[in-house]
Amino acid sequence: MSKISGVAIPAESLRGDPGAADLIARYDARAPRYTSYPTAVQFSPAVNARVYGEWLSAITPTRPVSLYVHVPFCARLCWYCGCNTRAVAKASLVSDYVQGLRREIAMVRALMPEGVWANALHLGGGTPNMLSRDDMVDLFGDLKRAFRLAPGADIAAEMDPAVLTRDWVRAAAFHGLNRASLGVQDLSPRVQEAVNRRETFEVLANAVGWLREVGVRSINFDLMYGLPRQTTVDVLSTLDRVLSLRPERLALFGYAHVPWMKPHQKLIAEADLPGAVARLDQSLAAAERLRGEGYVQIGLDHFALPTDELAIALAQGRLHRNFQGYTTDAAPSLVGFGASAISSLPQGFAQNETAELAWRERVQADALPTARGVALTDEDRFRGELIERLMCDGAVDLNAVCARHGRSLDELAPALAQIDGFEADGLASLRDGAITVTPRGGIFVRALCALFDTHLNREAARHARVV
Ligand SMILES: C[S@@+](CC[C@H](N)C(=O)[O-])C[C@H]1O[C@@H](n2cnc3c(N)ncnc32)[C@H](O)[C@@H]1O
Ligand code: SF4
Repeated sequence: MSKISGVAIPAESLRGDPGAADLIARYDARAPRYTSYPTAVQFSPAVNARVYGEWLSAITPTRPVSLYVHVPFCARLCWYCGCNTRAVAKASLVSDYVQGLRREIAMVRALMPEGVWANALHLGGGTPNMLSRDDMVDLFGDLKRAFRLAPGADIAAEMDPAVLTRDWVRAAAFHGLNRASLGVQDLSPRVQEAVNRRETFEVLANAVGWLREVGVRSINFDLMYGLPRQTTVDVLSTLDRVLSLRPERLALFGYAHVPWMKPHQKLIAEADLPGAVARLDQSLAAAERLRGEGYVQIGLDHFALPTDELAIALAQGRLHRNFQGYTTDAAPSLVGFGASAISSLPQGFAQNETAELAWRERVQADALPTARGVALTDEDRFRGELIERLMCDGAVDLNAVCARHGRSLDELAPALAQIDGFEADGLASLRDGAITVTPRGGIFVRALCALFDTHLNREAARHARVV
């Protein structure tokens, strides 16, 4: 747990600041989103099925595990999408995939010690509500039998409101669904047309109504800025409409344009993309509006009502960051299932085959579908904690983290030498062994984290830009 708590990553208005363009020019380098450290770019085949199997068998049953299930299917492909997914029309393809998941769950469980139990389950994608009601019920049944989900466990699913049904929501709630995350992005028809996504406010409001009706306790909306043809007015008018539904949480993601990794993003005309200054304006205007509505900013890109667990965790310095973004989940082991799913165990990270076909072939041959990963060194754990605290709290007590990991502050000298530049620009301060991001610097926190990333330099060009 961090000694520094409750400061959030401030994002006070740089709007209208004449220095903003210059800051962007100098700090808008490409940097990872730091949902892990080392990041997925460092994964290699050295972590294979044998290594992952050993890690699974070393899980201690005294602490709960968290579960993640990836569903790589959607009803349509949004052109901006950076997720591992594809559009499918045939329901039988999704059903076959669920049968593969059930095999994988049995295989993974058999490798773990007796008594392992779970306190959190997250269905992500893609679009988990592409699963038929029957397949979803079978999947929940297997997961519950295998992992004894604790009463009151967090059970969450990402959903596309455009293909959600009341029947699906009711069945999921019967199996314990208590959190939902709905994709919204932008409600302007002009922007939706430029990204091949159609979703009306009415469809969203219906989805929220069904989720509230069954008592889902926390609803999140994903919004985006930096989309083609999007303006600050679009972002604010989308916010105006969705805030009337009073979601407990909102995520505000900057569009990551990485066509060299996601070729379908080439369908987006680069000339339609807002520039860095316009993106900054969109994100700061949205953050300002959300704070005005009583939402607390959580880390870089999330917002929550003060009564939501995420806001409470932030105030208590126990916010975490994992592959799904900001979380209250502190479980030492996250076990992932499905194509491309990433597991995070105390020994390191392991990722399944990304391509569905390759994943399926391995699972059908009763082999763990692990393709790559990275084993953590003590130095990775040390730097990973520094980066996680900066990303979560916007501040880090270097002495405390060094003491916890038995490291010396001297090891950080090359990074600390570069903080001068951030200080001179009023973006961060270094005092008494603690780094604090200033209100002006909130938006550049990934660039600050990158100073501590010893793996970064070779791969910097592959990440999306900071702002
Ligand atoms: C799995 S989807 C959410 C659920 C559902 N599939 C939907 O879109 O309605 C995950 C979220 O990632 C975000 N996202 C996808 N591609 C992105 C990109 N290239 N840059 C930033 N955010 C992105 C979107 O906000 C999206 O809602
Ligand atoms: S944003 Fe959601 S619905 Fe659109 S392609 Fe990506 S995962 Fe599918």
